[in-house]
Amino acid sequence: MRRVIYPGTFDPVTNGHIDIVKRAIDLFDEVVVTVAKNPAKTSMFTVEERVEMLRKSLDEFPNVIVDWFDGLVVDHAKALGAVGIIRGLRAISDFEYEFQMALMNRKLSAGLKTIFLMPHEKYTYLNSTIIRNLAQFKSDISEFVPEAVAEKLKAKFQS
Ligand code: COA
Repeated sequence: MRRVIYPGTFDPVTNGHIDIVKRAIDLFDEVVVTVAKNPAKTSMFTVEERVEMLRKSLDEFPNVIVDWFDGLVVDHAKALGAVGIIRGLRAISDFEYEFQMALMNRKLSAGLKTIFLMPHEKYTYLNSTIIRNLAQFKSDISEFVPEAVAEKLKAKFQS
């Protein structure tokens, strides 16, 4: 039973993240998508809201579990018995930060592998900040995010 974790802020989850989850499902027996309670980032949605949006967006996949963590990602991975950490690489600009994080995580926990997956190229320009900005100005974001997220954003910014 090979379990991996896919950590992120997911504020909110986008179709780019879902694309990465689907690729990870093809490779591993179980994928735990885990929301970081990251004090360094000011988030639009609470951890509970981000978890709920992920659960609704991924409920068709029985081998995907959604949870949250605070503290170090390696500690959460170890507690879950995960063999690796999934991260998405969209462009070269992601590389340096991801490289540093992967090497630090390897230093902290030598057995844990970081696995990089590339989403479909149509998602390379997507991130959660862009989605939040578009939604604030009531732009249609339905082609970029799962339905549950589009509904949540619509409700948030309805005047
Ligand atoms: N499609 C679309 N967007 C994507 C994406 C994809 N496939 N992959 C990443 N992104 C976007 C996110 O939406 C996010 O956009 P935003 O900055 O506009 O909100 C950005 O890329 C990066 O987000 P994310 O993947 O959530 O990473 P992060 O940098 O916010 O969080 C953690 C990374 C949570 C894994 C990291 O901070 C962590 O491990 N924290 C725990 C503490 C720890 O262990 N520290 C030591 C690490 S060395």
